[in-house]
Amino acid sequence: KPYIVIMAGGIGSRFWPYSRNKKPKQFLDVLGTGRTLLQMTYDRFIGVSDPDKFLIVTNKHYFDLVREQLPEVSESNILTEPLRRNTANCIAYASYKIAQKDKEAKIIVTPADHLILKEINFLQKINLALQASNEEGRLITIGIRPNRPETGYGYIQYFSNDKAEAKKVKTFTEKPNSKLAKTFVESGEFVWNSGMFVWKVESIIKAFEKHMPEVAEAFEEGAQYYNTDQENAFIFKAYSQVKNISIDYGIMEKSNDVYVILGDFGWSDLGSWSGLHEIRNKDEKENVVEANALLYDTEGCYVKVPSEKLVVVQGLENYLINDSENVLLICKLDAEKKFREFVSDAKTKS
Ligand code: GDD
Ligand code: MG
Repeated sequence: KPYIVIMAGGIGSRFWPYSRNKKPKQFLDVLGTGRTLLQMTYDRFIGVSDPDKFLIVTNKHYFDLVREQLPEVSESNILTEPLRRNTANCIAYASYKIAQKDKEAKIIVTPADHLILKEINFLQKINLALQASNEEGRLITIGIRPNRPETGYGYIQYFSNDKAEAKKVKTFTEKPNSKLAKTFVESGEFVWNSGMFVWKVESIIKAFEKHMPEVAEAFEEGAQYYNTDQENAFIFKAYSQVKNISIDYGIMEKSNDVYVILGDFGWSDLGSWSGLHEIRNKDEKENVVEANALLYDTEGCYVKVPSEKLVVVQGLENYLINDSENVLLICKLDAEKKFREFVSDAKTKS
């Protein structure tokens, strides 16, 4: 059975102020289902592997949150990172640790904050991806047909005449500018990178050696410390050496061994308020209301305010109103790009 590596160390800043540094969105029940996004991710894969094959990689500050939310996963399967060094290093840590135990292992890497509606279709694609990853060196991605020129995703161009399930990838472009994204979508030749990956541990390690030798060196050097009580000290040293870079920029854009399986399983990246707005139940004016609210001439808004406060809104279109702890945010629902700035400026004010 494959290892399931859940990347759960992001800070979810595009969901601020609801999602906070101390409790980012993967640990929140953003859909109101009673399960957090991390728990939903775990549930989705539990049919694919056993709890002892799950590795949750997260920042050391979130260790207790993971313990609490996934009591089924043993402490030693929660890999804690001392510093934020992005997904390439998160994946390297898990991969070298797995390799130490099992050189033949297969790995499924998944974000902790996505929604998948059609789980049966999804699991079929995962099985195809596992089969396709048998071939030496192959890095399997799962592609989603785009419906808008979103700039927050990676774009995969593939050989469409390739009849195999896993089609050879021509180009991988992480987070293109909006002009490029538009060209990509209009051409019909591109799919979005869903952010899930399937490979043999030896394939990804070979890719690290080739495309990110400094990462390979940092993690490989301490192979003898994995799964011993010196692991944390070694990891601290490794994380202090490596650069902050995602797997998309670090490997997927560079490698010639990338393949894509096309998926259609009701995928959405709950990466932003507008993404969440898209999939939540709305009133007849397209408002998502998680509040005790009176709305007048208001359309396409997302209102999330604790119910002890009555919210009265008039004349707003496509706005977000979120009151969370000590912050009240009112901005355009599609202001994704501004959030970094909001969060960093807010630090100087509070
Ligand atoms: N452990 C750990 N450590 N996890 C991390 C870290 C880290 O330093 N940084 C991010 N993550 C986790 C996040 O919590 C999330 O679950 C996942 O890794 C992906 O990170 P994001 O920061 O959400 O990436 P993105 O959405 O900007 O882009 C990626 O996903 C898109 C699809 O949603 C890329 O793979 C894109 O190409 C892709 O289209
Ligand atoms: Mg994301």
